[in-house]
Amino acid sequence: MSETLSHTVDDLYSARVRRAGPPRLGDPRRSASLISFLAGFPDPSSLPKADVIEATRVALERDGEWALQYGASQGYQRLRDELLIKLRRDQGIEASDENLLITNGASQGLDLLVQALCDPGDVVLSEEPTWSGAVACFRGAGAEVVTIPLDAEGTDVEALASELASIVASGRQPKFFYTIPNFQNPTGVTTTLARRKRIVDLAHEYGFVVIEDDAYSDLRYRGRRVPTIYSLDDQGLVVYLSTFSKIMAAGVRLGWVVASPELIGTLSSLKAEGGTSPFAGAVAAEFCASGTLVEHIAELTALYASRHDAMLDAMTANMPDGVKWTDPDGGFFVWVHLPDALSAQALAARTREQGVEFLPGTACHFDGGDQTLRLSYSFADEAQIREGIALLANAIRAEMS
Ligand SMILES: Cc1ncc(COP(=O)(O)O)c(C=O)c1O
Repeated sequence: MSETLSHTVDDLYSARVRRAGPPRLGDPRRSASLISFLAGFPDPSSLPKADVIEATRVALERDGEWALQYGASQGYQRLRDELLIKLRRDQGIEASDENLLITNGASQGLDLLVQALCDPGDVVLSEEPTWSGAVACFRGAGAEVVTIPLDAEGTDVEALASELASIVASGRQPKFFYTIPNFQNPTGVTTTLARRKRIVDLAHEYGFVVIEDDAYSDLRYRGRRVPTIYSLDDQGLVVYLSTFSKIMAAGVRLGWVVASPELIGTLSSLKAEGGTSPFAGAVAAEFCASGTLVEHIAELTALYASRHDAMLDAMTANMPDGVKWTDPDGGFFVWVHLPDALSAQALAARTREQGVEFLPGTACHFDGGDQTLRLSYSFADEAQIREGIALLANAIRAEMS
């Protein structure tokens, strides 16, 4: 009788799997049982169920045979038409159909760009702290990440210039710079127009791609819109990413990339699934065409503006001396610096036992960051925000003593 050897998949994994971290952050259903400041989950009660039912009915009656069919790799045509209108109206971006690719969320847009531009060991630049999904994406690609700090005016462009000069002096070509210029995740800061222009000038000087991730720009509570980095570039080096996750429904998993026709062609050919869901695309197209998107963004802006105020007021009323935080003009996040020697991970363990969760800043750093944390005010309601911030402040006091 022959002996059967036992095998394990572990021996078969790729280098990419060995580089990959834990699964993507968070599960909204689990967070719903806590006071959750953890993630950029949209407010559950604002999700437009009735409007999406109506948009689905109209989309299927109008176009069902195409919405339920395989689709083009560039994405559902009617949605591309609607997004070009939205980009012109809301972002001041003049683009054509050949500049646009629909993706499975902005996450897939970023993933495709990294696949297209980056081999293991390549040098890329990123703001730090940054969105935890980008940290995981660049790590998974095996990129060497050079980090650029931010201050109250956004990306530190002088640090960017000096890092670029030293990368190029060492004979290497930086592939891209990743930035979130509006209400940055996690710091909430917005990069000024002067600095956006400087980023474009540097891209032209050194020949790298700027990835402009603009997931939050429609949710502005005060101040005026700043022109996109994309609209400041005339050499096809800036790529713009955005998403329906925060302004319609994260569950439709729809995002978009705006870039040069050549790059859009390259990214389309990397879409192994053959094209983002035509069904979801048809529903979202109807949601836009009916005018519902514009009304919904206005409602969300009012809702999140009061959440923002509730959190900032609660922070001012409760936080002990030595804790510092940002005050964003839009988006979902407040970024907190703890007093010396306090660990956000230790604090998170303490508050979680008491029913409050937040994101330790280490998730937003490529290295370090344990004295920082991110609070999201999108998911908890105002009463929960007041209760949760008072509890968090007490936990910080307890850690300090
Ligand atoms: C800056 C940023 N980019 C991208 C995403 C992901 O967007 P999507 O849900 O479209 O994949 C998020 C979500 O939290 C984000 O904060």
